[in-house]
Amino acid sequence: MSQSTARGPLVLGIETSCDETGVGLVRDGVLLADALASSVDEHARYGGVVPEIAARAHLEAMVPTIERALATAGARPADVDAVAVTAGPGLAGALLVGVAAAKAYALALGVPLYGVHHLAAHVAVDTLEHGPLPSPSIALLVSGGHSSLLLVEDLARAPVVSLGATVDDAAGEAYDKVARLLGMPFPGGPPIDRAAREGTATIPFPRGKAGDGTFDFSFSGLKTAVARWVEARRRAGEPVPVADVAASFQEAVVDVLTAKAVAAARAHGVETLVIGGGVAANSRLRALAAQRCEAAGITLRVPRPGLCTDNGAMVAALGALQVEAGTAPSPLDLPASSTLPLGV
Ligand code: KG4
Ligand code: ZN
Repeated sequence: MSQSTARGPLVLGIETSCDETGVGLVRDGVLLADALASSVDEHARYGGVVPEIAARAHLEAMVPTIERALATAGARPADVDAVAVTAGPGLAGALLVGVAAAKAYALALGVPLYGVHHLAAHVAVDTLEHGPLPSPSIALLVSGGHSSLLLVEDLARAPVVSLGATVDDAAGEAYDKVARLLGMPFPGGPPIDRAAREGTATIPFPRGKAGDGTFDFSFSGLKTAVARWVEARRRAGEPVPVADVAASFQEAVVDVLTAKAVAAARAHGVETLVIGGGVAANSRLRALAAQRCEAAGITLRVPRPGLCTDNGAMVAALGALQVEAGTAPSPLDLPASSTLPLGV
């Protein structure tokens, strides 16, 4: 069988919306490099991401991370055909570093610049592992910064539509806050996930906005309920069954997430669900989503954990789809927008 030697454009993707400096390189739907520098350890003592620290860390990590990605892919800067960057939403100062770097590389290399939406990029990354996304699909994005249900028609040609989002805390934020009150380190998702495996979900914590007919989420009441329950135990001088609290909290979160995602797919006659964001690494979320999707006849797609968290591959993936679709590049005065709406 003869193979085509024609090669598509090499797209460099830059992600700096939060605490990960991510640089990805994608060609022909294939991930060639995914370099990451994280400032997560610098934020751990504060229990959350400190914007100024994140921005400064991006500045220091940017050029080395780009060089590392190029070296991994065996590419030279001159091989890059387009530069994509997260234009928002995210932390303003952090985004600015990525957008400024992307503009500099695009200008210096004489290649087009593509400003992309962070949430659309989280969805696009799945195409690197599982191929083109069926249209339409539902995406559930759950991380420390967002919890959204999206209707996706065509990532390169049509705006992603928001069906619902959290009205208060993001799912990952709830994990981080509950972990803190249980004396676990930041970020709180992995230790709660681990502790929950040793416990039983016996405590009936509230399911915020469950069955309210919307595709919105609320996790603030749950977090408060866990805090009150733990405080009551401590005041009574009784031991806190940490594993059972973790399992019960986790069950409340993933029950609502999966129920609403399946309901959104049903309401829109959609047969594919993609889950992304840092919380998509959660073992119970993956298991319950698989179980409920199978029962509902929905195909579930979840990228491997390393692609669920913030990274440069997702930005390169979406940029490459836009280049292939002939989307007009962004102007060189592209702003970084901390509140960038979907559909632009
Ligand atoms: O996507 P991400 O790396 O960064 C953004 O927030 O954008 O997500 C980080 C979030 C944190 O809140 C972390 O606690 C959560 O994802 N997380 C998890 C797990 N691994 C990471 N939450 C639940 N279970 C996990 N296994
Ligand atoms: Zn994210």
